[in-house]
Amino acid sequence: MSALEIKHLLGLRGVSANDIRAILDEAAGFRKVLERKVKTLPTLRGTTVVNLFFESSTRTRISFELAEKRLSADIVNFATSGSSVQKGETLLDTLKNIEAMKIDVVVVRHKGTGVPKFLSEHTDAVIVNAGDGAHEHPTQALLDIFTIENSLGNLSGKTVTIVGDIKHSRVARSNAWGLNALGAKVRFCGPPTLMPRNPKMLPVEIFCDVGKAVDGADAVIALRLQKERMDDSLLPSIREYRNFYGITRQTLEHAKKNVLIMHPGPINRGVELDSDIADGENSVILEQVTNGVAVRMSVLYLLSAGRAGE
Ligand code: CP
Repeated sequence: MSALEIKHLLGLRGVSANDIRAILDEAAGFRKVLERKVKTLPTLRGTTVVNLFFESSTRTRISFELAEKRLSADIVNFATSGSSVQKGETLLDTLKNIEAMKIDVVVVRHKGTGVPKFLSEHTDAVIVNAGDGAHEHPTQALLDIFTIENSLGNLSGKTVTIVGDIKHSRVARSNAWGLNALGAKVRFCGPPTLMPRNPKMLPVEIFCDVGKAVDGADAVIALRLQKERMDDSLLPSIREYRNFYGITRQTLEHAKKNVLIMHPGPINRGVELDSDIADGENSVILEQVTNGVAVRMSVLYLLSAGRAGE
């Protein structure tokens, strides 16, 4: 019997409110453990986790590794540089070889949309998506949701505005599905060139004017401009972007007084978010990072618990 309806965490699209709630509830317990002097639990002793990061990462990679260590899992870290991928080995061959070493869970980040799903179809291990292309980043959205609920209570009827480079944002997509499943209203705001091609496919309201988008918002999530995925013609001037879409004191005049300021990181200060806002009294950006460890502990624990009976 699985602890969750899902066997892998590939994205939040289609994940039930019950599963999301179970992950958040379990994370609340782990969050308390992280405040203790002794932060390690024996929960995943004997479970082997491979962290397969084909794209750069600071927060997510360290957060998963810490979550695994806090649960006493055995950990193997894979980096593309120095691996056989550089010699032309296919992704599937890499996975099959790692799997032959008897691993239980694979945490994967890759620039290719759908890579975690592809891997889940070719392995018995549990697959956890740590970000695939511009598709989904489910654990980031879960930690965002956890952070909002921690400050503001139940999400039902709350408004969350996501501002910036939506087109390239896996964080925006996962948040749209996850927040919607729990009853929140989601607004996307950004330049038309940085909007997804079919935004109506997502459960969101679209805004071009950032003042209107944050009007009455309970939380604002600013997104990083993903220059590495961007054609220059999409954004001719960073200064102009900052003037129209940067989150500043002026932008927030119409938001709720206690509006939460969030960012998945890394921040381009003075572009998507002014420093006085990023470091201000309403910012929960570093809380997001702390909560990320607890949320990832919960995901690893619940998905591994589902596998234990197989
Ligand atoms: N939020 C996030 O995914 O950050 P990293 O790219 O540093 O992992």
